[in-house]
Amino acid sequence: MEPLFKGKHFITLEEWTKPEIDKLLEVSFQLKHDFLNNVPTPYLTNKTAFLMFFEQSTRTRNSMEAGIAHLGGHGVFLDTSKMQISHGESAKDTAVILSSYGHGIACRNCFWEVGNKYLREMAANSSVPIMNLQDDLYHPMQGLADLMTIQEVSKTTKNLKVSIIWAYATTHKKPISVPLTQILLFPRYGMDVTLAYPEGYDLPDWAIEKAKKNAIENGGKFHITHNMEEAFTGADIVIPKNWGSWVKNQSTAVVDDLLESYKGWKCTEEMIALASPNVKYMHALPADRGNEVVDSVIDGVHSIVYQEAENRLHTSKAVMVMTMGNK
Ligand code: CP
Repeated sequence: MEPLFKGKHFITLEEWTKPEIDKLLEVSFQLKHDFLNNVPTPYLTNKTAFLMFFEQSTRTRNSMEAGIAHLGGHGVFLDTSKMQISHGESAKDTAVILSSYGHGIACRNCFWEVGNKYLREMAANSSVPIMNLQDDLYHPMQGLADLMTIQEVSKTTKNLKVSIIWAYATTHKKPISVPLTQILLFPRYGMDVTLAYPEGYDLPDWAIEKAKKNAIENGGKFHITHNMEEAFTGADIVIPKNWGSWVKNQSTAVVDDLLESYKGWKCTEEMIALASPNVKYMHALPADRGNEVVDSVIDGVHSIVYQEAENRLHTSKAVMVMTMGNK
């Protein structure tokens, strides 16, 4: 398979054109077919990717690590607390050295106002592609898998009513990177996107402006509401998910009075009943069951969360093949 984007960094989908994203999706669908039919896919034989994690992960780590094995290569899992980074080694030195040992570097660094800058610093000094496994602003691997899943379940993305809805959770103060990636990406595919959140959980102004621009340029729509019920009403796809109040409040405290005042922002059967009869419920996972969503919804007939999570494997493989490929 021709690695059409060999060497291209994958830090945000904003830096990938629609034809490039479409190619990644085409390859993802092919790799999914091949995986499910036991067709060998030796597109990264003898290649190595370094997988650096500053934070915990289930889907991202394992889709990358299993994915590169399926492609004939090797993924090296790196807990950054065990690297010399923990003694202050720079992003530059880490990138120069790891890129001299292999063919790709992937990294998750979600620290607020640090993560994306860290990845950019690596990209400026790496001779191999840098792949973003989630930072403080973007989660492009998740965005690509979400888009693939929406294409699988919807005949068309044009005018599809997609609601990205803040939800109450207490597990940890989550990054804004998933909803930010979705509001930028989905309008590019003509979707009618609603962003719903209670006061205090804003996304950055520049991202809102860019989401509106992407909608205008691609025949999509984008609007904001602070009314949860309005966001569920008539939606074809709902994505109720927590994110932290990072833009307004940089404290790392997980639970505060503001959060506790919005316990009612939960995806319940009553909310699902407001949506389209065939509505799909999505969530990047992990979900805070009982807080963000009730079990009967996430385990119910509208939920496509496991399909969404599975597609992380196929899209991760597509990104690695197209940026690190053999030819
Ligand atoms: N959705 C996602 O990125 O999951 P992990 O945090 O488990 O990687």
